Amino acid sequence: MILVTGGAGFIGSNFILDWFKFEDEEIINIDSLTYAGNLENLSSLKDNELYRFKHGDIKDPDFIEEVLVSFNPRAIINFAAESHVDRSIQSPSEFIKTNVLGTFNLLEKTRAYWEKLSDDDKDNFRFLHISTDEVYGSLNEGDSGFSESHPYKPNSPYSASKASSDHLVRAYNKTYSLPTITTNCSNNYGPFQFLEKLIPLCINNALNEKDIPIYGDGLQIRDWLYVKDHCSAIRDVLKKGQIGNIYNIGGNSELTNIEVVKTICNILDRVCPKNSGSYKNQITYIKDRAGHDRRYAIDLSKISSELGWRPEHSFDNAIEKTIKWYVNNNDWVSRLKSGEYMNWIQSQYGNK
Ligand code: NAD
Ligand code: TYD
Repeated sequence: MILVTGGAGFIGSNFILDWFKFEDEEIINIDSLTYAGNLENLSSLKDNELYRFKHGDIKDPDFIEEVLVSFNPRAIINFAAESHVDRSIQSPSEFIKTNVLGTFNLLEKTRAYWEKLSDDDKDNFRFLHISTDEVYGSLNEGDSGFSESHPYKPNSPYSASKASSDHLVRAYNKTYSLPTITTNCSNNYGPFQFLEKLIPLCINNALNEKDIPIYGDGLQIRDWLYVKDHCSAIRDVLKKGQIGNIYNIGGNSELTNIEVVKTICNILDRVCPKNSGSYKNQITYIKDRAGHDRRYAIDLSKISSELGWRPEHSFDNAIEKTIKWYVNNNDWVSRLKSGEYMNWIQSQYGNK
């Protein structure tokens, strides 16, 4: 039995769906169902006896203790987090509460649980913490990609809160020998991503004849990874990763934001042509994000040489799949656009 936290979010739900394609081990998913949590992502598992869900918060000590004692997991994969940089700039406090205090609570309760396991179960146990490349800060053009020994220099409240959680995870391994592993991954895209992030926001705005907002000059670089490749990396790290280690995960796919958005527009022009010219006409440059990191890139040598993992999907191929997924799942998209989502879009971009 594996315990997954935050499994109703974008990466967690992809991870759970993929897990059952490759493994026959049970999963218990715990999620507090914030605005970003959506159980509809997992509706295809309703008859799967290997899958369970419990509604609860990683900050709640009694809840975590009860789940650990009742389900007796052999591993925990911690996806639960507040994950959107722009929200962290507007209101950082939830990021500190969930990402720092929530991870701390999960570690404390896991330590108490793990210490009572038999020697064999203790050795086999893993606490896998899912983190981000944003903890390393920003690269200049020409710098080599982030390796696992790159210094931490987070620049947003989001990345600072994730960096704090990474440090706590490391400390629980060094101090208490808790068998932890941390992964630091680059920007993901794919099905079920909430509409506030660049790629789904761009697809949704394009199709709804709204402005496609580009922050600043649009030349910031991200290393894009298809979410299914992230999920396969996590399964490999869980199976073969070394305790106490960090593994950086990336897509070998560095692109500027404007390249990403123009690629999306070109594909939409082909698969969903509109009468009034190209979707590119909707691209609008707006005020830059505060503290905006210029470039992220990942050095994949450790995970590829130690675990034999490499991304399987090219950006061109997987972005087209992703766009078609959003086009074909318009009901999922419509149901997401709740009052809370509209309030966020209004506060961030106005009425356009
Ligand atoms: P997401 O925002 O889509 O999902 C987060 C999930 O966590 C939601 O289901 C939410 O309800 C749940 N959650 C939030 N606070 C909680 C709490 N206190 N207790 C229990 N559940 C809670 O995020 P995502 O994009 O799926 O990211 C998952 C993890 O991967 C995060 O830790 C994030 O930092 C990391 N990550 C994301 C990316 C990316 O590009 N999205 C890249 C690298 C790393
Ligand atoms: P985002 O998807 O928020 O991921 P992150 O900030 O974690 O990298 O943003 C990806 C990039 O796209 C980032 O450089 C900010 C930029 N961006 C825009 O230009 N316009 C937008 O409307 C959004 C949401 C992001």
